Amino acid sequence: MAISTSATGDGWSSRSAFILAAIGAAVGLGNLWRFPTLAGESGGGAFVIFYIGCVVLLGLPLLLAEIFIGRAGQTDAVGSIRKVATQSRVSPAWSLVGGLGALAAFLIVSFYSVVAGWVLYYVGVFASDFFGALFAGEPFRGALQGQSQEQIAGRMGDLFANPWLLLTMHLLFMGTTLIIVARGISGGIEKAATWLMPAFFVLLLGITIYGAIVGDIGEAAAFLFTPDWSKLTPEVMNSALGQALFSLSLGVAGIITYGSYIRQGTPLGSTALAIGFADTAVALIAGLMIFPIVFAVGLDPAAGPTLVFQTLPFAFESMPAGSLIGLLFFVLILVAAITSSISLLEVPTAWGVGEMGWSRTKSSLIFGVGAFLIGIACLLGYNVWSDVRPLGFWSLFAETDILDTVDGFTGKVMLPLGALFVSIFVGWRADRRLLESTTGLSPIMFTIWRFLLAWLCPLAVAIILVTGLFPSIL
Ligand code: PHE
Repeated sequence: MAISTSATGDGWSSRSAFILAAIGAAVGLGNLWRFPTLAGESGGGAFVIFYIGCVVLLGLPLLLAEIFIGRAGQTDAVGSIRKVATQSRVSPAWSLVGGLGALAAFLIVSFYSVVAGWVLYYVGVFASDFFGALFAGEPFRGALQGQSQEQIAGRMGDLFANPWLLLTMHLLFMGTTLIIVARGISGGIEKAATWLMPAFFVLLLGITIYGAIVGDIGEAAAFLFTPDWSKLTPEVMNSALGQALFSLSLGVAGIITYGSYIRQGTPLGSTALAIGFADTAVALIAGLMIFPIVFAVGLDPAAGPTLVFQTLPFAFESMPAGSLIGLLFFVLILVAAITSSISLLEVPTAWGVGEMGWSRTKSSLIFGVGAFLIGIACLLGYNVWSDVRPLGFWSLFAETDILDTVDGFTGKVMLPLGALFVSIFVGWRADRRLLESTTGLSPIMFTIWRFLLAWLCPLAVAIILVTGLFPSIL
């Protein structure tokens, strides 16, 4: 008999549905936009290798810890932590960690939707270019023909200067996210993931193979995997850790929330491994998809957040069938973004349902509209409010606009803090028998997991957090 799990009686219909949805949550703008941007800015190899270390030694144990809390608690993040705390006879105040996570997820989805809106805009740009070429009888021509590099790169500037256009894209993306979340787990989230994720992998591999054929994959691989350790500063380590957490959806209680819908008897250890492996593979493949193209046309890998949006459209110009490849590329990012934004909005929504007793519709509306409004502030930061520096008093954020501040503060501060608390809670406070029976790990794996979680995670995260945020103490 299928065992219904969550507080609302809704749940994943199978283990593979959960894995697909969790991979959908993990794989997103983090892999395809944030990872290449940071790897490029941080000089490649050393960042990438440190990032992989963070995923294996810190990310995987934390992933299992969050799945455990969700599976054992079977309700929203706050309620799940409270339940595990009560069963372990420790203070229910630990549930505040779930509240912190829900707040972080709420803040992240606000700017996430704005960036996804840029993606949507480029889908439109390449769709009109591709269909224009098709109707002109030249389906294999490059993208945006006849335009100079300045004109193509300038599109980003035109978009940023137009608050109404940014707002429309943000509205469309957030609205879609909200509708899917309001429909619930098996009806909305699961259906979206089981359709979109396979399409995503087909597109990803297709474009990577294309890039390897026409681009410079050797130089890209050398850039991504040859470390220059002098580039590994405390700040780079902090952003690599933040990126590992962001990409695996950790520290925001997202995996706790998704884990609460898992059915009984699902092996948690191998599930965590599958999710971590898939997410990291996609980030690395994304690097191998993007950098060969960047190098082939002699572009700067350290272009920053505009790398994907500004330089790649230029790269597509000189490629055969570039407008089709460009269209597919941005559809790919959009697909990945929507399955992630769903999971982000789900965290506060589940909190409203579980803790406040709101209906799913009401809860998703409250948080969806709230995040939409914060997103408006983020997008106005590119035009009307371009001088605003929300955390300008803090040297780390002195130069950052509204969107980068929300991104940086959640990624560099809130996610590591969330991860720190989760590792202490599960590593030190949770009842051992509950841990053993829920995870079902073999004794050896259990010992390794508990060691990494109880010792390495809190120490490493605390050190990276403090030195990254306050480099002057070194
Ligand atoms: N992991 C997602 C990405 O890589 C972002 C995300 C973070 C989703 C936290 C859910 C929770 O894009």
